[in-house]
Amino acid sequence: MRCILDQITRRKFLQIAGGITFLSLTPVGKGVFAGPTTERPLPLFTAIPYIQPGSASLLTEGQDTLVIAWQTQNLPASFEVYYGLGKKFDHSAPVVVGERTVGGPATPFALGQLPGATPLDETKRLSYSASLSGLQLGKTYHYRVIGNGEVIAEGYATSRKPRGTAVRFVALGDNSCDDVKAADLGDRAVAYYAYQSHPDFIMNTGDNVYESGLDSEYSRYFFPVYNAGTADPKVGAPLLRSIPLYTVMANHDVSDKVPVAAGSTTTTAGADFNKKPDSLAYYTAMYMPSNGPSTLTSPTPIVCDDSALLAQFKDCAGSRFPSMANYSFDYGDIHFLCIDSNEYVDPTDQALQSWIAQDLTSTEATWKFVVYHHPAFNVGGEHYLEQHMRVLSPLLEVNGVDLVLHGHEHTYQRTQPLKFVPTDITRASMISSKNRTVPGVFTVDRDFDGVTKTVPNGIIYITTGAGGKELYDPGYTDAPSKWLHPEDNNVAYVAKFYSALHSLTLIEVDGNTVTLKQQNENGDIVDQVTITKA
Ligand SMILES: [Fe+2]
Repeated sequence: MRCILDQITRRKFLQIAGGITFLSLTPVGKGVFAGPTTERPLPLFTAIPYIQPGSASLLTEGQDTLVIAWQTQNLPASFEVYYGLGKKFDHSAPVVVGERTVGGPATPFALGQLPGATPLDETKRLSYSASLSGLQLGKTYHYRVIGNGEVIAEGYATSRKPRGTAVRFVALGDNSCDDVKAADLGDRAVAYYAYQSHPDFIMNTGDNVYESGLDSEYSRYFFPVYNAGTADPKVGAPLLRSIPLYTVMANHDVSDKVPVAAGSTTTTAGADFNKKPDSLAYYTAMYMPSNGPSTLTSPTPIVCDDSALLAQFKDCAGSRFPSMANYSFDYGDIHFLCIDSNEYVDPTDQALQSWIAQDLTSTEATWKFVVYHHPAFNVGGEHYLEQHMRVLSPLLEVNGVDLVLHGHEHTYQRTQPLKFVPTDITRASMISSKNRTVPGVFTVDRDFDGVTKTVPNGIIYITTGAGGKELYDPGYTDAPSKWLHPEDNNVAYVAKFYSALHSLTLIEVDGNTVTLKQQNENGDIVDQVTITKA
Protein backbone atom coordinates (compact mmCIF):
# COMPACT_ATOMS: atom_id res chain seq x y z
CA MET A 1 0.00 0.00 0.00
CA ARG A 2 1.42 3.36 -1.02
CA CYS A 3 1.24 6.35 1.26
CA ILE A 4 -1.85 8.44 0.91
CA LEU A 5 -0.03 11.55 -0.29
CA ASP A 6 1.60 9.61 -3.11
CA GLN A 7 -1.80 8.39 -4.16
CA ILE A 8 -3.36 11.81 -3.96
CA THR A 9 -0.73 13.21 -6.29
CA ARG A 10 -0.76 10.26 -8.59
CA ARG A 11 -4.45 10.14 -9.06
CA LYS A 12 -5.29 13.77 -8.63
CA PHE A 13 -7.41 12.86 -5.70
CA LEU A 14 -10.27 15.09 -4.86
CA GLN A 15 -9.65 17.26 -1.87
CA ILE A 16 -13.03 17.86 -0.41
CA ALA A 17 -14.75 19.09 2.68
CA GLY A 18 -11.99 21.46 3.64
CA GLY A 19 -9.53 18.64 4.02
CA ILE A 20 -11.81 16.44 6.08
CA THR A 21 -11.61 13.53 3.72
CA PHE A 22 -9.56 12.55 0.73
CA LEU A 23 -11.19 10.09 -1.58
CA SER A 24 -9.86 8.35 -4.62
CA LEU A 25 -13.43 7.57 -5.57
CA THR A 26 -14.52 9.78 -8.40
CA PRO A 27 -18.10 10.48 -9.46
CA VAL A 28 -19.14 8.95 -12.76
CA GLY A 29 -22.85 9.63 -12.46
CA LYS A 30 -25.38 10.75 -9.92
CA GLY A 31 -24.65 8.84 -6.77
CA VAL A 32 -22.20 6.52 -8.50
CA PHE A 33 -18.46 6.49 -7.90
CA ALA A 34 -15.61 4.64 -9.50
CA GLY A 35 -12.50 3.56 -7.65
CA PRO A 36 -8.92 3.93 -8.87
CA THR A 37 -8.00 2.09 -12.02
CA THR A 38 -5.75 -0.71 -10.88
CA GLU A 39 -4.89 -4.24 -11.83
CA ARG A 40 -7.80 -5.23 -9.61
CA PRO A 41 -10.49 -2.66 -10.43
CA LEU A 42 -13.04 -1.94 -7.77
CA PRO A 43 -16.77 -2.23 -8.37
CA LEU A 44 -18.75 0.94 -8.79
CA PHE A 45 -19.83 2.51 -5.53
CA THR A 46 -23.48 3.41 -5.05
CA ALA A 47 -22.74 4.87 -1.61
CA ILE A 48 -19.27 6.10 -0.75
CA PRO A 49 -18.13 5.56 2.85
CA TYR A 50 -20.46 7.12 5.39
CA ILE A 51 -20.61 7.24 9.16
CA GLN A 52 -23.34 5.81 11.33
CA PRO A 53 -23.58 5.80 15.13
CA GLY A 54 -23.62 2.04 15.57
CA SER A 55 -25.32 -0.06 18.21
CA ALA A 56 -24.24 1.55 21.50
CA SER A 57 -26.98 3.31 23.47
CA LEU A 58 -25.77 4.10 26.99
CA LEU A 59 -22.77 6.36 27.48
CA THR A 60 -20.13 4.00 28.78
CA GLU A 61 -16.49 4.98 28.65
CA GLY A 62 -14.54 2.66 26.41
CA GLN A 63 -17.65 1.04 24.94
CA ASP A 64 -18.88 3.50 22.35
CA THR A 65 -19.38 2.59 18.69
CA LEU A 66 -19.23 4.08 15.21
CA VAL A 67 -19.92 2.33 11.93
CA ILE A 68 -18.35 3.02 8.55
CA ALA A 69 -20.56 1.75 5.74
CA TRP A 70 -20.56 1.83 1.95
CA GLN A 71 -22.35 0.14 -0.92
CA THR A 72 -21.23 -1.21 -4.27
CA GLN A 73 -22.53 -3.01 -7.28
CA ASN A 74 -22.39 -6.76 -7.10
CA LEU A 75 -18.81 -7.52 -8.02
CA PRO A 76 -16.25 -9.13 -5.72
CA ALA A 77 -13.71 -6.95 -3.93
CA SER A 78 -11.68 -7.07 -0.75
CA PHE A 79 -12.00 -4.26 1.77
CA GLU A 80 -10.18 -3.43 4.97
CA VAL A 81 -10.87 -0.70 7.53
CA TYR A 82 -8.29 0.69 9.94
CA TYR A 83 -8.84 3.36 12.55
CA GLY A 84 -7.34 4.94 15.60
CA LEU A 85 -6.68 8.08 17.58
CA GLY A 86 -4.28 10.61 16.11
CA LYS A 87 -4.13 9.04 12.65
CA LYS A 88 -2.35 6.01 13.97
CA PHE A 89 -4.74 3.59 12.22
CA ASP A 90 -3.63 1.00 14.74
CA HIS A 91 -6.92 -0.86 14.99
CA SER A 92 -8.66 -2.90 12.34
CA ALA A 93 -12.43 -3.29 12.11
CA PRO A 94 -13.90 -6.44 10.59
CA VAL A 95 -15.76 -5.76 7.37
CA VAL A 96 -19.19 -7.35 7.00
CA VAL A 97 -21.09 -7.56 3.72
CA GLY A 98 -24.77 -8.13 3.03
CA GLU A 99 -26.72 -8.41 -0.19
CA ARG A 100 -29.75 -6.45 -1.34
CA THR A 101 -31.72 -7.17 -4.47
CA VAL A 102 -31.89 -4.22 -6.80
CA GLY A 103 -35.37 -2.86 -7.40
CA GLY A 104 -37.40 -4.22 -10.29
CA PRO A 105 -39.21 -2.34 -13.02
CA ALA A 106 -40.84 -0.05 -10.49
CA THR A 107 -37.44 1.20 -9.36
CA PRO A 108 -35.11 1.14 -12.35
CA PHE A 109 -31.50 1.86 -11.61
CA ALA A 110 -29.57 2.74 -14.71
CA LEU A 111 -26.04 2.28 -13.45
CA GLY A 112 -25.09 0.01 -16.29
CA GLN A 113 -26.15 2.63 -18.79
CA LEU A 114 -23.73 5.28 -17.59
CA PRO A 115 -21.13 6.22 -20.19
CA GLY A 116 -17.95 4.35 -19.48
CA ALA A 117 -19.38 2.58 -16.47
CA THR A 118 -18.80 -1.08 -15.91
CA PRO A 119 -21.90 -3.00 -16.96
CA LEU A 120 -23.82 -3.63 -13.79
CA ASP A 121 -25.06 -6.87 -12.38
CA GLU A 122 -28.60 -5.56 -12.07
CA THR A 123 -29.73 -8.24 -9.70
CA LYS A 124 -27.91 -7.36 -6.49
CA ARG A 125 -26.20 -4.61 -4.53
CA LEU A 126 -23.67 -5.14 -1.76
CA SER A 127 -23.89 -3.31 1.57
CA TYR A 128 -20.61 -3.22 3.49
CA SER A 129 -20.06 -2.12 7.07
CA ALA A 130 -17.25 -2.03 9.59
CA SER A 131 -18.08 -1.51 13.25
CA LEU A 132 -15.63 0.46 15.34
CA SER A 133 -16.22 -0.68 18.91
CA GLY A 134 -14.67 -0.13 22.32
CA LEU A 135 -14.34 3.59 21.65
CA GLN A 136 -13.64 6.26 24.21
CA LEU A 137 -16.27 8.97 24.59
CA GLY A 138 -15.86 12.35 22.92
CA LYS A 139 -12.78 11.36 20.93
CA THR A 140 -12.05 11.89 17.27
CA TYR A 141 -11.12 8.70 15.46
CA HIS A 142 -9.49 8.71 12.07
CA TYR A 143 -10.43 5.96 9.67
CA ARG A 144 -9.01 4.56 6.47
CA VAL A 145 -10.85 2.36 3.98
CA ILE A 146 -8.80 0.16 1.68
CA GLY A 147 -10.27 -1.52 -1.38
CA ASN A 148 -8.33 -4.17 -3.28
CA GLY A 149 -5.16 -2.97 -1.60
CA GLU A 150 -5.55 0.75 -2.35
CA VAL A 151 -6.55 3.47 0.07
CA ILE A 152 -9.85 4.76 -1.23
CA ALA A 153 -11.07 6.89 1.66
CA GLU A 154 -9.79 8.56 4.76
CA GLY A 155 -11.72 10.63 7.22
CA TYR A 156 -12.61 11.09 10.82
CA ALA A 157 -15.59 10.93 13.08
CA THR A 158 -16.13 11.74 16.73
CA SER A 159 -17.67 9.38 19.25
CA ARG A 160 -20.51 10.55 21.48
CA LYS A 161 -19.77 13.24 24.00
CA PRO A 162 -19.94 12.32 27.70
CA ARG A 163 -22.20 13.83 30.33
CA GLY A 164 -21.43 17.42 31.23
CA THR A 165 -20.37 18.32 27.68
CA ALA A 166 -22.11 20.87 25.46
CA VAL A 167 -23.81 19.28 22.44
CA ARG A 168 -24.92 20.75 19.15
CA PHE A 169 -27.12 18.89 16.68
CA VAL A 170 -29.45 19.59 13.79
CA ALA A 171 -32.91 18.15 13.28
CA LEU A 172 -34.55 17.98 9.88
CA GLY A 173 -37.08 15.80 8.13
CA ASP A 174 -38.96 14.94 4.96
CA ASN A 175 -35.97 15.72 2.83
CA SER A 176 -34.37 13.50 0.16
CA CYS A 177 -36.46 13.26 -2.96
CA ASP A 178 -36.37 13.12 -6.71
CA ASP A 179 -35.40 16.75 -6.90
CA VAL A 180 -36.34 17.48 -10.47
CA LYS A 181 -38.80 20.10 -9.34
CA ALA A 182 -37.39 23.44 -8.30
CA ALA A 183 -39.69 23.33 -5.27
CA ASP A 184 -37.86 20.25 -4.04
CA LEU A 185 -34.29 21.51 -4.27
CA GLY A 186 -34.30 22.81 -0.71
CA ASP A 187 -32.77 19.60 0.66
CA ARG A 188 -29.40 20.68 -0.70
CA ALA A 189 -29.44 24.07 1.01
CA VAL A 190 -30.70 22.45 4.19
CA ALA A 191 -27.79 19.99 4.07
CA TYR A 192 -25.41 22.88 3.44
CA TYR A 193 -26.61 24.86 6.46
CA ALA A 194 -26.60 21.73 8.58
CA TYR A 195 -22.94 21.34 7.66
CA GLN A 196 -22.19 25.01 8.34
CA SER A 197 -23.51 24.66 11.89
CA HIS A 198 -20.85 22.04 12.69
CA PRO A 199 -23.21 19.59 14.36
CA ASP A 200 -22.10 16.70 16.52
CA PHE A 201 -24.79 14.61 14.84
CA ILE A 202 -27.95 14.84 12.73
CA MET A 203 -31.37 13.81 13.96
CA ASN A 204 -33.61 13.10 11.00
CA THR A 205 -37.28 13.12 11.92
CA GLY A 206 -38.21 10.61 9.22
CA ASP A 207 -39.09 10.43 5.54
CA ASN A 208 -35.41 10.98 4.88
CA VAL A 209 -35.81 9.21 1.52
CA TYR A 210 -38.74 9.45 -0.91
CA GLU A 211 -40.88 7.82 -2.16
CA SER A 212 -40.58 4.39 -0.62
CA GLY A 213 -37.40 4.16 1.46
CA LEU A 214 -35.80 1.89 -1.15
CA ASP A 215 -32.15 0.99 -1.27
CA SER A 216 -31.99 2.43 -4.80
CA GLU A 217 -33.61 5.68 -3.59
CA TYR A 218 -30.99 6.08 -0.87
CA SER A 219 -28.37 5.80 -3.61
CA ARG A 220 -29.98 8.35 -5.85
CA TYR A 221 -31.43 10.95 -3.51
CA PHE A 222 -29.94 10.66 -0.03
CA PHE A 223 -26.22 9.89 -0.18
CA PRO A 224 -25.41 12.26 -3.07
CA VAL A 225 -26.77 15.23 -1.09
CA TYR A 226 -25.70 14.42 2.48
CA ASN A 227 -22.36 12.94 1.49
CA ALA A 228 -21.68 15.33 -1.38
CA GLY A 229 -18.14 16.04 -2.47
CA THR A 230 -18.45 19.74 -1.74
CA ALA A 231 -20.38 22.10 0.52
CA ASP A 232 -22.67 24.17 -1.63
CA PRO A 233 -26.30 25.24 -1.14
CA LYS A 234 -27.07 23.97 -4.63
CA VAL A 235 -25.29 20.64 -4.14
CA GLY A 236 -25.42 19.54 -0.50
CA ALA A 237 -22.56 18.91 1.90
CA PRO A 238 -20.01 16.29 2.92
CA LEU A 239 -21.81 15.54 6.17
CA LEU A 240 -22.11 11.79 6.37
CA ARG A 241 -18.41 11.00 6.03
CA SER A 242 -17.81 12.46 9.48
CA ILE A 243 -21.19 13.17 11.11
CA PRO A 244 -23.40 10.36 12.44
CA LEU A 245 -27.05 10.53 11.40
CA TYR A 246 -29.96 9.09 13.36
CA THR A 247 -33.42 8.71 11.90
CA VAL A 248 -36.80 7.17 12.69
CA MET A 249 -39.19 4.92 10.82
CA ALA A 250 -41.70 6.93 8.80
CA ASN A 251 -44.50 6.51 6.29
CA HIS A 252 -42.26 6.72 3.23
CA ASP A 253 -40.35 3.71 4.53
CA VAL A 254 -43.57 1.70 4.21
CA SER A 255 -45.39 3.13 1.20
CA ASP A 256 -47.39 0.04 0.26
CA LYS A 257 -50.73 -1.17 1.53
CA VAL A 258 -50.56 -4.63 3.03
CA PRO A 259 -53.06 -6.80 4.97
CA VAL A 260 -53.17 -6.06 8.69
CA ALA A 261 -52.98 -9.83 9.22
CA ALA A 262 -52.49 -12.82 6.95
CA GLY A 263 -55.62 -13.34 4.86
CA SER A 264 -57.25 -10.11 5.97
CA THR A 265 -58.78 -7.73 3.42
CA THR A 266 -58.16 -4.79 5.76
CA THR A 267 -54.91 -3.05 5.00
CA THR A 268 -52.34 -0.86 6.71
CA ALA A 269 -48.99 0.62 5.72
CA GLY A 270 -46.22 -1.85 5.03
CA ALA A 271 -43.50 -3.02 2.69
CA ASP A 272 -44.45 -5.12 -0.33
CA PHE A 273 -41.27 -6.84 -1.43
CA ASN A 274 -43.11 -8.39 -4.37
CA LYS A 275 -43.44 -4.93 -5.87
CA LYS A 276 -40.28 -3.35 -4.45
CA PRO A 277 -37.57 -5.91 -3.66
CA ASP A 278 -35.21 -3.31 -2.20
CA SER A 279 -37.75 -2.10 0.37
CA LEU A 280 -36.93 -1.17 3.97
CA ALA A 281 -33.44 0.16 3.42
CA TYR A 282 -33.94 1.80 6.82
CA TYR A 283 -32.97 -1.55 8.32
CA THR A 284 -30.03 -2.23 6.02
CA ALA A 285 -28.49 1.19 5.23
CA MET A 286 -28.76 2.63 8.74
CA TYR A 287 -26.75 1.39 11.73
CA MET A 288 -28.30 2.81 14.87
CA PRO A 289 -28.74 1.68 18.49
CA SER A 290 -30.19 -1.79 18.84
CA ASN A 291 -31.74 -1.61 22.28
CA GLY A 292 -35.36 -1.58 21.07
CA PRO A 293 -37.74 -4.47 21.69
CA SER A 294 -36.90 -7.49 19.53
CA THR A 295 -40.55 -8.48 19.52
CA LEU A 296 -43.32 -5.98 18.99
CA THR A 297 -47.08 -6.13 19.00
CA SER A 298 -46.97 -3.95 15.86
CA PRO A 299 -43.88 -4.90 13.82
CA THR A 300 -43.27 -3.41 10.39
CA PRO A 301 -45.60 -5.45 8.11
CA ILE A 302 -43.95 -7.18 5.17
CA VAL A 303 -45.46 -8.95 2.18
CA CYS A 304 -43.01 -11.18 0.32
CA ASP A 305 -43.81 -14.33 -1.65
CA ASP A 306 -40.13 -15.04 -2.33
CA SER A 307 -38.63 -16.69 0.75
CA ALA A 308 -35.10 -16.29 -0.58
CA LEU A 309 -35.60 -12.54 -1.06
CA LEU A 310 -37.00 -12.18 2.45
CA ALA A 311 -34.11 -14.20 3.86
CA GLN A 312 -31.66 -11.97 2.01
CA PHE A 313 -33.21 -8.84 3.55
CA LYS A 314 -33.21 -10.31 7.05
CA ASP A 315 -29.66 -11.52 6.68
CA CYS A 316 -28.53 -8.04 5.60
CA ALA A 317 -30.47 -6.33 8.40
CA GLY A 318 -29.47 -8.82 11.08
CA SER A 319 -30.65 -7.90 14.56
CA ARG A 320 -31.48 -4.39 13.37
CA PHE A 321 -34.78 -5.78 12.12
CA PRO A 322 -37.10 -5.25 13.84
CA SER A 323 -35.47 -3.86 16.99
CA MET A 324 -34.27 -0.65 15.31
CA ALA A 325 -37.90 0.47 14.83
CA ASN A 326 -37.62 1.81 18.37
CA TYR A 327 -34.43 2.70 20.18
CA SER A 328 -32.90 5.11 22.61
CA PHE A 329 -29.50 6.58 23.28
CA ASP A 330 -27.70 9.23 25.26
CA TYR A 331 -25.60 12.06 23.90
CA GLY A 332 -24.02 14.47 26.37
CA ASP A 333 -26.71 15.52 28.82
CA ILE A 334 -29.58 14.39 26.56
CA HIS A 335 -31.49 11.13 26.52
CA PHE A 336 -33.17 10.47 23.18
CA LEU A 337 -36.09 8.08 22.71
CA CYS A 338 -36.95 7.33 19.07
CA ILE A 339 -40.30 5.67 18.34
CA ASP A 340 -41.89 4.18 15.23
CA SER A 341 -45.19 6.05 14.71
CA ASN A 342 -46.26 4.47 11.44
CA GLU A 343 -49.84 3.64 10.54
CA TYR A 344 -49.48 0.03 11.74
CA VAL A 345 -48.40 1.13 15.22
CA ASP A 346 -51.00 1.13 17.97
CA PRO A 347 -49.70 3.56 20.61
CA THR A 348 -52.28 2.32 23.11
CA ASP A 349 -50.41 -0.99 23.15
CA GLN A 350 -49.39 -1.71 26.73
CA ALA A 351 -46.18 -3.51 25.81
CA LEU A 352 -45.00 -0.48 23.83
CA GLN A 353 -45.99 1.89 26.62
CA SER A 354 -44.21 -0.25 29.22
CA TRP A 355 -41.03 -0.19 27.18
CA ILE A 356 -41.28 3.60 26.80
CA ALA A 357 -41.89 4.06 30.54
CA GLN A 358 -39.03 1.77 31.44
CA ASP A 359 -36.72 3.59 29.06
CA LEU A 360 -37.59 7.07 30.29
CA THR A 361 -37.41 6.19 33.97
CA SER A 362 -34.07 4.45 33.67
CA THR A 363 -32.12 7.53 32.59
CA GLU A 364 -30.66 10.23 34.81
CA ALA A 365 -29.99 12.58 31.88
CA THR A 366 -30.76 16.27 32.41
CA TRP A 367 -32.80 16.45 29.23
CA LYS A 368 -35.22 13.97 27.68
CA PHE A 369 -36.05 14.39 24.00
CA VAL A 370 -38.47 12.12 22.12
CA VAL A 371 -38.48 11.70 18.35
CA TYR A 372 -41.22 10.23 16.19
CA HIS A 373 -42.46 11.07 12.71
CA HIS A 374 -46.23 11.64 12.89
CA PRO A 375 -46.86 14.86 14.83
CA ALA A 376 -49.19 14.66 17.79
CA PHE A 377 -49.85 18.38 17.73
CA ASN A 378 -49.92 19.82 14.25
CA VAL A 379 -52.33 22.37 12.87
CA GLY A 380 -51.41 22.03 9.20
CA GLY A 381 -53.84 20.99 6.55
CA GLU A 382 -52.21 17.78 5.31
CA HIS A 383 -51.90 15.33 8.19
CA TYR A 384 -54.01 16.88 10.94
CA LEU A 385 -56.11 13.75 11.39
CA GLU A 386 -53.12 11.48 12.13
CA GLN A 387 -53.11 12.26 15.86
CA HIS A 388 -52.60 8.77 17.28
CA MET A 389 -49.30 9.64 18.99
CA ARG A 390 -51.20 12.03 21.28
CA VAL A 391 -52.03 8.94 23.33
CA LEU A 392 -48.46 8.88 24.61
CA SER A 393 -48.38 12.51 25.79
CA PRO A 394 -49.43 11.85 29.43
CA LEU A 395 -46.78 9.12 29.65
CA LEU A 396 -44.12 11.45 28.28
CA GLU A 397 -45.22 14.25 30.62
CA VAL A 398 -45.11 12.16 33.77
CA ASN A 399 -41.63 10.93 32.83
CA GLY A 400 -40.20 14.41 32.42
CA VAL A 401 -39.86 14.70 28.64
CA ASP A 402 -38.86 18.23 27.65
CA LEU A 403 -39.07 18.25 23.87
CA VAL A 404 -40.69 16.15 21.15
CA LEU A 405 -39.36 16.33 17.60
CA HIS A 406 -41.35 15.14 14.64
CA GLY A 407 -41.80 15.66 10.89
CA HIS A 408 -44.41 14.44 8.37
CA GLU A 409 -45.93 17.89 7.90
CA HIS A 410 -43.65 19.69 5.44
CA THR A 411 -43.54 22.79 7.59
CA TYR A 412 -41.99 24.08 10.80
CA GLN A 413 -44.25 24.32 13.81
CA ARG A 414 -43.40 25.02 17.46
CA THR A 415 -46.01 24.66 20.16
CA GLN A 416 -46.19 26.47 23.45
CA PRO A 417 -45.32 24.13 26.32
CA LEU A 418 -48.43 22.02 26.80
CA LYS A 419 -50.00 19.18 28.72
CA PHE A 420 -52.69 17.00 27.21
CA VAL A 421 -55.27 14.62 28.63
CA PRO A 422 -56.93 12.45 25.96
CA THR A 423 -60.68 12.05 26.38
CA ASP A 424 -61.24 9.41 23.68
CA ILE A 425 -58.49 7.13 22.40
CA THR A 426 -60.74 4.89 20.33
CA ARG A 427 -59.48 6.01 16.94
CA ALA A 428 -55.80 5.89 17.95
CA SER A 429 -55.93 2.10 17.67
CA MET A 430 -57.40 2.09 14.17
CA ILE A 431 -54.29 1.01 12.26
CA SER A 432 -56.06 0.98 8.91
CA SER A 433 -57.52 4.47 9.17
CA LYS A 434 -56.20 7.87 8.25
CA ASN A 435 -58.59 9.43 10.75
CA ARG A 436 -56.95 8.74 14.09
CA THR A 437 -58.07 11.85 15.90
CA VAL A 438 -57.60 11.94 19.65
CA PRO A 439 -59.67 14.68 21.30
CA GLY A 440 -58.65 15.87 24.71
CA VAL A 441 -58.08 18.66 27.16
CA PHE A 442 -55.16 21.04 26.66
CA THR A 443 -53.31 22.94 29.35
CA VAL A 444 -51.13 25.47 27.55
CA ASP A 445 -48.31 27.38 29.27
CA ARG A 446 -48.97 30.91 28.04
CA ASP A 447 -46.19 32.46 30.14
CA PHE A 448 -43.30 30.79 28.31
CA ASP A 449 -41.87 33.11 25.68
CA GLY A 450 -38.42 31.58 25.20
CA VAL A 451 -36.74 34.89 25.92
CA THR A 452 -37.47 36.16 29.43
CA LYS A 453 -39.71 33.26 30.54
CA THR A 454 -37.67 30.24 29.62
CA VAL A 455 -38.78 27.51 32.05
CA PRO A 456 -41.57 25.59 30.30
CA ASN A 457 -44.51 24.03 32.07
CA GLY A 458 -45.22 21.17 29.72
CA ILE A 459 -43.68 19.60 26.63
CA ILE A 460 -42.70 21.69 23.62
CA TYR A 461 -43.54 19.88 20.35
CA ILE A 462 -41.47 20.74 17.30
CA THR A 463 -42.53 19.73 13.81
CA THR A 464 -39.48 20.03 11.59
CA GLY A 465 -40.56 18.49 8.30
CA ALA A 466 -39.53 21.23 5.90
CA GLY A 467 -36.21 19.58 5.02
CA GLY A 468 -36.57 19.34 1.26
CA LYS A 469 -39.81 17.85 -0.04
CA GLU A 470 -42.38 20.25 -1.45
CA LEU A 471 -43.76 22.44 1.32
CA TYR A 472 -47.28 22.40 2.68
CA ASP A 473 -49.47 25.31 3.73
CA PRO A 474 -47.32 28.25 2.56
CA GLY A 475 -50.08 30.64 3.58
CA TYR A 476 -49.90 29.57 7.22
CA THR A 477 -46.69 31.44 8.04
CA ASP A 478 -47.43 34.09 10.68
CA ALA A 479 -51.18 33.57 10.23
CA PRO A 480 -52.38 32.48 13.71
CA SER A 481 -56.05 32.48 12.74
CA LYS A 482 -55.32 29.50 10.47
CA TRP A 483 -53.73 27.52 13.29
CA LEU A 484 -57.02 26.81 15.10
CA HIS A 485 -59.14 23.68 14.76
CA PRO A 486 -62.68 23.34 16.11
CA GLU A 487 -61.87 19.66 16.87
CA ASP A 488 -59.35 21.02 19.39
CA ASN A 489 -61.90 23.54 20.68
CA ASN A 490 -59.90 26.21 18.86
CA VAL A 491 -57.21 26.03 21.54
CA ALA A 492 -54.20 28.06 20.36
CA TYR A 493 -51.28 25.77 21.11
CA VAL A 494 -48.97 26.59 18.21
CA ALA A 495 -46.64 29.54 18.85
CA LYS A 496 -44.79 29.62 15.54
CA PHE A 497 -45.56 28.27 12.08
CA TYR A 498 -43.13 28.72 9.21
CA SER A 499 -43.59 27.26 5.77
CA ALA A 500 -42.43 30.02 3.44
CA LEU A 501 -39.17 28.20 2.70
CA HIS A 502 -37.46 24.94 3.55
CA SER A 503 -35.79 24.95 6.95
CA LEU A 504 -33.89 22.97 9.57
CA THR A 505 -33.65 23.05 13.35
CA LEU A 506 -30.40 23.89 15.15
CA ILE A 507 -30.29 22.80 18.79
CA GLU A 508 -27.56 23.47 21.32
CA VAL A 509 -27.64 21.90 24.77
CA ASP A 510 -25.26 23.29 27.36
CA GLY A 511 -25.92 22.29 30.95
CA ASN A 512 -29.37 23.51 31.96
CA THR A 513 -29.89 25.56 28.81
CA VAL A 514 -31.26 24.57 25.41
CA THR A 515 -31.11 27.01 22.52
CA LEU A 516 -33.35 26.17 19.57
CA LYS A 517 -33.18 28.03 16.26
CA GLN A 518 -34.99 27.46 12.99
CA GLN A 519 -32.94 28.37 9.92
CA ASN A 520 -34.38 28.61 6.43
CA GLU A 521 -32.78 27.61 3.15
CA ASN A 522 -31.43 31.13 2.70
CA GLY A 523 -29.60 30.93 6.01
CA ASP A 524 -31.98 33.26 7.87
CA ILE A 525 -33.02 32.46 11.44
CA VAL A 526 -36.82 32.49 11.44
CA ASP A 527 -37.48 31.36 15.02
CA GLN A 528 -35.47 31.15 18.21
CA VAL A 529 -36.23 30.18 21.79
CA THR A 530 -34.23 29.42 24.89
CA ILE A 531 -35.40 26.67 27.23
CA THR A 532 -34.01 26.31 30.75
CA LYS A 533 -34.45 24.07 33.75
CA ALA A 534 -35.93 25.54 36.94
FE1 LIG B 1 -44.26 11.60 6.37
